[in-house]
Amino acid sequence: MKIRMNVNGNWREDDVEPRTLLVHYLRDVAGLTGTHVGCETSICGACTVLLNQEAVKSCTVFAVQANGAQVTTIEGLAREGKLHPLQQSFWEEHGLQCGFCTPGMILVAHQLLCRNPHPTQEEIRKGLEGNLCRCTGYQHIVKAVQSAASKMSATEPVRAVAAAG
Ligand code: FES
Ligand code: FES
Repeated sequence: MKIRMNVNGNWREDDVEPRTLLVHYLRDVAGLTGTHVGCETSICGACTVLLNQEAVKSCTVFAVQANGAQVTTIEGLAREGKLHPLQQSFWEEHGLQCGFCTPGMILVAHQLLCRNPHPTQEEIRKGLEGNLCRCTGYQHIVKAVQSAASKMSATEPVRAVAAAG
């Protein structure tokens, strides 16, 4: 089947099998390997991307279901060589160790801050509860999201990732 999708601001058209999962399309066809594959059963959240600005686990979505949609992966957050405040804060606050969960954590945190620019610790933990980390104990991830929230409210409104074209 032919599908057309806006990935990180660029429209692309590809032929895919109807059974191709969005995560495999992004990694194997679009070459965006920042989206990780963990459990493939909707538990870990490592495969989280934004689909029309909603965080989804891309191991549970067929690529054909994203036909015509706007998809943002971790590769789509930085602008002009500058890390997104969430990426910067995860770096500064040691919100990652092995990094396997990190792209998914950052994208689900992006959704959280779009919906609630000033979340409490509890709200952050609740917002990230569908994403698992086996390394950090979560405290540094929560601090990173809090730090990103302050940076974003100080310098810019939460930036929706705009589709091009
Ligand atoms: S790989 Fe998709 S939820 Fe774990
Ligand atoms: S940093 Fe290793 S799984 Fe989260």
